[in-house]
Amino acid sequence: VLSLAGGLPAVETFPHGELLRSLERAGPSALQYDWPEGRKGLRDWIAQRLARRGAKVSPEDVLVTSGAQQALDIALSLAEGTTQTIAVPPTCYPGALDLFEARGARLVTDERAASLVYAMPAVANPTGLGAPPGTADAWARARTTLLEDDAYAELRFDGSLPAPLLARAPEHVLHVGTLSKTLCPGLRIGWLVTPERLRERARRYKHVTDLQGNSFAQRVVEGYLAREDYDRRLLRLRRFYARRAEALVAALRRELPSCSFAEPEGGFSLWVETEEPRDDVRFLRLALKHGSSCDPGGDFCVERTGGPLCFRLAFSSLPPRSMPEAVKRLARALAEYARRTAASA
Ligand SMILES: Cc1ncc(COP(=O)(O)O)c(C=O)c1O
Repeated sequence: VLSLAGGLPAVETFPHGELLRSLERAGPSALQYDWPEGRKGLRDWIAQRLARRGAKVSPEDVLVTSGAQQALDIALSLAEGTTQTIAVPPTCYPGALDLFEARGARLVTDERAASLVYAMPAVANPTGLGAPPGTADAWARARTTLLEDDAYAELRFDGSLPAPLLARAPEHVLHVGTLSKTLCPGLRIGWLVTPERLRERARRYKHVTDLQGNSFAQRVVEGYLAREDYDRRLLRLRRFYARRAEALVAALRRELPSCSFAEPEGGFSLWVETEEPRDDVRFLRLALKHGSSCDPGGDFCVERTGGPLCFRLAFSSLPPRSMPEAVKRLARALAEYARRTAASA
């Protein structure tokens, strides 16, 4: 199977050797307990990077978490009482949808009806697109609590780094970031930035949940970041993923001209809509039968069934040379899907 599913970072981009050397440099004390908020050096690094994008962040307001996923969970706990109705984008990161549902929230796509807005303004998963112009200003003006997921912000292909919502409305933004996309996900380094008034509650939640994050991994990453030029790494990564995105877009234009999609501006994936009625399971089975794969659309939508067939295609972990063949196989699957749908109508 040539898989366009998953949306994992490419293994060949992980700085395995450099991380190993940093691990060797960390002494035995790196294995000791540490503080719930995470290592100071890492929190300074995160605050400095956000400052470059116009957000005045004190390292004290940064909590290092086990990936962005735990940061989302802690953020929800802080916004308690206001989380009953959460607005999500029409196509949304499934990990957020699943978390919000597991915490009993009602999900809507109309922001006016919500007490909390979940947004991925810089680059969204699954679309690979930034928020349309003016949206960020509107969010910042509304007084609703914003849960800003910045996971892919540093992977905009043109290198533009939009000011985070945190810079515009620091008092009502809970800001989530991660190294999973630009370093590696296995070390589980993410963060949550809260307004100062919520700092203690965030720390306390982290403490009662797991005492502290993985301080050994934090030490390794801190040592790595102290020696590496992270901006140069990002430059390489953006080129790397942009090439993959281009190869996928070219193949889609050739093989699936009847499908609609927008060229991604960054991230790991894009979103495809077809004119066929939606049956995710049937389409996935056919994709696999033809030797390709994608992420079924229902996983990304509040309404998991109904509407037209749609799916996410991830370009992040497939080499550009394999893209034409992967999409050809998907096109064969879609053709068979259309034939079968017409026959059963
Ligand atoms: C938009 C978004 N937010 C958060 C996460 C979770 O990232 P982490 O590995 O840092 O928990 C992901 C992972 O796919 C994601 O796509």
